[in-house]
Amino acid sequence: FAQKDYKLWLQYEKKTDSPIISDYLSNIKGIIALENTATSKIAQNELQIALNAMLGSQFQVTVKPEGNHKIILGSKLVLTPEIQKAIGSDFERINEEGYIIKSVSIKNNKHIVITGKKDIGVLYGVYSFLRLVQMNKSIKNLHLIDAPKTNIRILNHWDNLDRTVERGYAGFSLWNWQKLPDFIDPRYIDYARANASIGINGTVLTNVNANALILTPQYLEKVEALANVFRPYGIKVYLTARFSAPIEIGGLKTADPKDLDVMNWWKNKAKEIYKRIPDFGGFLVKANSEGQPGPQNYGRDHVDGANMLADAVAPFGGVIMWRAFVYSEHDANDRAKQAYAEFVPYDGKFRDNVIVQVKNGAIDFQPREPFHPIFGAMPKTPLMIEFQITQEYLGFSTHLVFLPKLFQEVLESDTFQKEKGTTVAKIIDGSLSNSKLTGIAGVSNIGNDVNWTGHPFAQANWYGFGRQAWNPDLDAEVIADEWLRCTFSNDEKFIKPVAAMMIKSREAVVNYMTPLGLHHIMDTGHHYGPGPWVSDLSRPEWNPVYYHKADKNGIGFDRSKTGTNATAQYAPEVEKLFDNLETCPENYLLWFHHVSWDYKLKNGQTLWNSLAFKYQEGVDQVKEMQDTWNKTGKYVDKERFKEVQMLLDIQYKEAKWWRDACLLYFQQYSGKELPVGVENAS
Ligand code: GCU
Repeated sequence: FAQKDYKLWLQYEKKTDSPIISDYLSNIKGIIALENTATSKIAQNELQIALNAMLGSQFQVTVKPEGNHKIILGSKLVLTPEIQKAIGSDFERINEEGYIIKSVSIKNNKHIVITGKKDIGVLYGVYSFLRLVQMNKSIKNLHLIDAPKTNIRILNHWDNLDRTVERGYAGFSLWNWQKLPDFIDPRYIDYARANASIGINGTVLTNVNANALILTPQYLEKVEALANVFRPYGIKVYLTARFSAPIEIGGLKTADPKDLDVMNWWKNKAKEIYKRIPDFGGFLVKANSEGQPGPQNYGRDHVDGANMLADAVAPFGGVIMWRAFVYSEHDANDRAKQAYAEFVPYDGKFRDNVIVQVKNGAIDFQPREPFHPIFGAMPKTPLMIEFQITQEYLGFSTHLVFLPKLFQEVLESDTFQKEKGTTVAKIIDGSLSNSKLTGIAGVSNIGNDVNWTGHPFAQANWYGFGRQAWNPDLDAEVIADEWLRCTFSNDEKFIKPVAAMMIKSREAVVNYMTPLGLHHIMDTGHHYGPGPWVSDLSRPEWNPVYYHKADKNGIGFDRSKTGTNATAQYAPEVEKLFDNLETCPENYLLWFHHVSWDYKLKNGQTLWNSLAFKYQEGVDQVKEMQDTWNKTGKYVDKERFKEVQMLLDIQYKEAKWWRDACLLYFQQYSGKELPVGVENAS
C-alpha cells in the first residue's frame, strides 16, 4: 500500500504495451555518463533506475562516448567537440539551470544528448526526459530547450521545531530534529528527488512564525546535515530569522536594526552559518505582522530591518525574502489596503539582495482573491509571489482542489501597470523590470504522512507549484495531464474525465464556500468549515462578519470609491473595471461592492438567487466529481481509489454543509425564499 502513495509522480511503472516498449528499446541501448560530480551521479542513477523499471531492461552506464543509440549525459564543458558542435548555439538559449535534450547523429551513430551549462541542468533534463517516457511520448528526433524563468523556486515549510506544522494537514514535519544530524532519514532524499524533478531549488525549513533557537549551533549542525543531503539535487536551504533573536539567543538588550551590536551579531551569525553551509540561501522574515517582532518595535521600518539583514548575508551571496504580509489592529478600516499602503512607499529603498515576498492576494489565501495590488506597483523592487499550497482555507487535505488553476488565474492577471499585458507572471519573472532576483514561494503541504500531502490529489498541487515556479506561463491543463499520467495511468479513458474533474475542482470549492467574491467566512482559528456568523474575536478583521457585511440591504465589502477605495490601489484600467458595479467581474463582485439583494446579475437573476444557485452549483460539481471518480476503479490501484472515494464523500457532505450554513445564515438578512432548484437545508 505504502509504495504507490509514497512514490508521488515518480512511479516509474513498468510498461505493458509491447510496441511502446520495443520502440523505446530500439532508441535506448545504454547510458553514457561523461561527468562524475555528485549531481551527475544522481542523474545517472535516476535515469538508469527509472528506465530499467519502466522498460524491464538492464541498461548499463559507461563512460566512453561510443556505440549507438545511447543517452549521453554531461554538462557543456565535458562534452566532446563533436557533441558540442551538434548542440551548437542551443547553449545560448538557456541559463545556468536550463537543459537541452537533443537527438544527434555523430559519425553515423544516433544518440540522445542531455546537457546543460551545469550538471544541475543535466539532472533537470533527465527528469524531463523521464517524464516523456512516463507519458509514452516519442523520443525520436528530440530537440527540447528549456530553462526556468525564475531564480528562486522555493517551498516555505511552516514547520516548528517540535515537528508540529502550522496549517499543515499531512502529519508532522519531515525534519526529525531530534535524530539529526547523524540520522539521515531516507525520506530527505526522496523529498529532494521529488523537488528536483519539478525544478524546485530552495526550501525554507522553518515556520515564518519563527523560533530563534534554529539559529543556535545545536540546530545549525542539523540544518547543515540537511543542506548536505539537498545540495547535489540543486536545492539550497534557507531559514526563517526571528527578528528578536539577538535578544533571545544572543544575550543583547535590543534587536534594534540600527544598533551596532545588533548589526554585528547578525553579521557574525551569517558568518557562522556560511562556514557550515557555504551555499546557504538566506533568510525569510515575517516582521511586525500578527504579533511577530520586527524593526517597528524600535521605531524603525521594514527597510531598516531588511537592509540590516541583507548586509549581513551579502558578503556570502545570501538573500533576504522580506514578507509584505502585514496588517495592523490599529487600522480596521480595510485590511486589504494595508500591505500596499505600507510597502509601496519603500519602493527602490531595499538593498539589491532583498526580495519582497507578497501573497497572491491582499487578504489571505482565499479560494478566490483578485491579485495583490502591490504587483506592478513597486517597479524598483524585486517582488516574489507567495502561494499557499497547503489548503488552509480550502478544506485542508480533505477536499480535492487542484490549485494550479488558482495559481494560473493570478499569474495571468493583467495588472496594467506600465502597459496592457503586464501580467503578474511578467512582474515576478522579472521580464518587465529586468530584475535579476526573481522568485516564487509556495507554503508547503508536505508532512510525514505516507502519501506526503494527506490527500492523494494534493500531491498534484506540490507538483503543479513546482512546474509553474519553473514556468509561470504553464497551463494548468498541461500540468493536470502530466501529473495524472506520471502518477496513475496513461489510459485516455482515465485521463480525460479525471483531468476535467481536477480542472473543475477549483471553481467547485469557490462555489460552495465563497461564491461571487465572498471571502474569509470560514470558521475562525482553524479556518475549516463555514462560520459567516462569527463576530466575537478580539481583532475586528479576524471576524467573518467584517468581510461579508451582510445586512438587510445587501451583502459584500464596499471597496469602491463609495467605500474604502481599495480599488484606487490598482492601475487606472483595473481600478475602473473593479470600481464600477456594472463592469466589476462577477466573480469579484462582493469583494469590491456591497450589493443589494435584488440587484440583477448578468444571468438576469437577483443577487440572492444567484448566490443560492452558486452554492448549489458547487454541491452539484462535487457530486459530478464523485461520479467521475467512481468510474475509475479499473485504472487505479485499490488503495488510492478507495482513499479518494472516501475523501470525496466527505467533500460532498461538507459542500452541502457550506451551502446550507451560508444560505440559512444569509437568509436572515435577505429575508427571501430559496429559488427553485436549490435544495433546502431543512
Ligand atoms: C495566515 C495563517 C497563519 C500564518 C499567516 C502568515 O494568517 O493563518 O497561520 O502565520 O497567514 O502567512 O504569516
